[in-house]
Amino acid sequence: MILVTGGAGFIGSNFVLDWLAAGNEPIVNLDVLTYAGNLQNLEAIAGDGRHIFVRGDICDGDLIATLLREHPIRAIVHFAAESHVDRSIHGPEDFIQTNIVGTFRLLEAARGHWAALSSDAKSAFRFLHVSTDEVYGSLSPSDPPFAETNQYQPNSPYSASKAAADHLVRSYHHTYGLPVLTTNCSNNYGPFHFPEKLIPLCIHNALAGKPLPIYGDGMQIRDWLYVKDHTAAVRRVLEAGTPGETYNIGGWNEKPNIDVVKTLCRILDEEHPKADGTSYADQITFVKDRPGHDRRYAIDARKIEAALGWKPVETFETGIRKTVRWYLDHQEWVANVASGGYRDWINTHYGATST
Ligand code: NAD
Ligand code: TYD
Repeated sequence: MILVTGGAGFIGSNFVLDWLAAGNEPIVNLDVLTYAGNLQNLEAIAGDGRHIFVRGDICDGDLIATLLREHPIRAIVHFAAESHVDRSIHGPEDFIQTNIVGTFRLLEAARGHWAALSSDAKSAFRFLHVSTDEVYGSLSPSDPPFAETNQYQPNSPYSASKAAADHLVRSYHHTYGLPVLTTNCSNNYGPFHFPEKLIPLCIHNALAGKPLPIYGDGMQIRDWLYVKDHTAAVRRVLEAGTPGETYNIGGWNEKPNIDVVKTLCRILDEEHPKADGTSYADQITFVKDRPGHDRRYAIDARKIEAALGWKPVETFETGIRKTVRWYLDHQEWVANVASGGYRDWINTHYGATST
């Protein structure tokens, strides 16, 4: 059995669904259900006995220790985080609490649990920390993509908090021998992506007839990976990664933001043409830039490809078309998120205690 944190968020819920589709090992899913946590993402496995959902905070060390005592957990896959750069600029506090203190509490509980295991169970145990390429900072146009050996140069409160967590994870291996793995992935996109992030926001706004906001000149570059390629990479690292190692995950898909949004508009024009015959691209609007906006991210994924044989299945063109189709086919999910209806559902079931 594995313990997943943040398994009701965008990547975590895709991971939980894909894990249970790929095998039969049960999951304890610990998620406090912030605004980004949505149990509707997990509707397909409602009533599945292999999935135990626990509403709780990764900062609650006693709760984690109890879960590790009560379930035969052989690995922790840690997704839970505050994840939106713009929110970290407006209010960094939650990022420090969840991303740094929460990771520390999880590491402490894992260390206590691991130390008491038999020697076989000890060597088989894994703590997989899911991180981001943003810890490496910003590249100039001619720089090579980020390798695992790049210096950390985080520029936003979000990336600084993830960098701090990465350092703690590293130190628990070096100091205590905890068998940790760290993955640093590029920007994800795909089903269940919360519509505050660029791709789902633009699909949602396009269909709602609203402006598609492009920060600054739109020439910032991100390296896009379809979320199911990321979840497959995480499964592979968990299965075969070497403890103490870091693996960069990316799909060699560098794109300027403006090109991403124009591609979305082109696919929407084909899949869901506007009644008046105009293009969704007419809704593109340039707005004030994000403070400290990183210019370029790019991942060198050769290590995970060579060492673990992982490769992405989707190209940007196939992945983005699937994503647009998913949003067109799941307008109810989008409407529930946009209206806050998913919060009402959570509050009815769990009480209105989360942030
Ligand atoms: P998300 O914001 O969609 O989901 C985060 C989940 O964590 C939510 O379900 C939320 O309720 C939960 N959570 C937040 N604080 C918690 C706490 N204190 N205790 C328990 N649960 C808590 O994030 P995401 O985009 O799915 O990202 C998941 C992980 O992957 C994060 O660690 C992020 O840094 C990393 N990552 C994301 C991307 C990306 O493009 N989205 C890329 C690389 C790495
Ligand atoms: P985002 O999805 O927030 O991810 P991150 O900041 O973690 O890379 O943003 C992706 C890129 O899109 C980033 O360069 C910021 C830009 N962006 C816009 O231009 N407009 C928007 O409304 C948003 C949310 C992002």
